[in-house]
Amino acid sequence: MLRRLHPEQPASFAFTPDNLAWAQAQITKYPEGRQASAIIPLLWRAQEQEGWLTRPAIEYVADMLGMAHIRALEVATFYFMFQLQPVGSVAHVQICGTTSCMICGAEDLIAVCRDKIAPRAHQLSADGKFSWEEVECLGACANAPMAQIGKDYYEDLTAERLAHIIDEMAAGRVPTPGPQNGRYASEPLGGATSLKDHEAGRDPLNASARLAADIGDTIKRIDGTEVPLLAPWGRQSGGDVAVAERPAPARPKAPAEETAAPAAVEEAAPERLSAPRPGRQPDDLKRISGVGPKLEALLNELGFWHFDQIAAWTPAEVAWVDARLKFKGRIARDGWIDQARAFAAEG
Ligand code: FES
Repeated sequence: MLRRLHPEQPASFAFTPDNLAWAQAQITKYPEGRQASAIIPLLWRAQEQEGWLTRPAIEYVADMLGMAHIRALEVATFYFMFQLQPVGSVAHVQICGTTSCMICGAEDLIAVCRDKIAPRAHQLSADGKFSWEEVECLGACANAPMAQIGKDYYEDLTAERLAHIIDEMAAGRVPTPGPQNGRYASEPLGGATSLKDHEAGRDPLNASARLAADIGDTIKRIDGTEVPLLAPWGRQSGGDVAVAERPAPARPKAPAEETAAPAAVEEAAPERLSAPRPGRQPDDLKRISGVGPKLEALLNELGFWHFDQIAAWTPAEVAWVDARLKFKGRIARDGWIDQARAFAAEG
């Protein structure tokens, strides 16, 4: 199956402030020079935020990681978990069609999707609220047939139950995920035959369904405010470090802050060099997250070869450089000055 970018794309993409903080924290998991390893979590977060993966989102993530756009496009188009076309504004329904689910009624579930959503997979419903597709085994075979809707599994489904779930979601309600036929988990249909001691007084929902019900983000677009963001690998002493308290790297300005910035800062050309300083190689400006090979070439062309040059830019000089970049505001948004200062300090 050919996976291509959708012909209609939005003009731009930016992470929400909290998702941006989360993404910056993910990047710090990897050793210097290996930031590209964060490509899948960052693309996934972009999809969680928007529902699908747009070209601007793929390129934004590539720029954050200093990757050529084509490398990020290769990843996004390879993995089927990335949706390359718009999905329903309420939910995207993924029906498992593999053996166990197929023999337990997956085709009836697909018929419901064709009837209630759209005749073809990946087609939006008439009201734009839903989309659907058939997927391979999702690892819940003992509770076949099943569907993943948003982030959670609905198991032991019947056609009637799936139709009801879709109706509920269309009305703004989210039925509790998990087994839909009264089963607790994946015990025999007639009930557990052993290890029955713990049944008394237990939570009526299994742990997975309980978490889904408590967090309540089954079909929510993720903006990063859902649960505390932790970066335990950045631990300094005693416990996880909340992303917001993380000491480095500096958190770039959020797009909202960016648009709230004074509209007209006077421009002033920074000091520029026609070549790297005598006896020195150019610095690898791609180490600044948000700077890829193309941007590095442009910066060199503009006369910037070293981190200390960028670290010294005044607001007026930032405005001058910004005016010469394709995407305005990225210097502040991606925190170039702080990053350049840190790299320059390494010598
Ligand atoms: S076959 Fe459907 S979840 Fe495994």
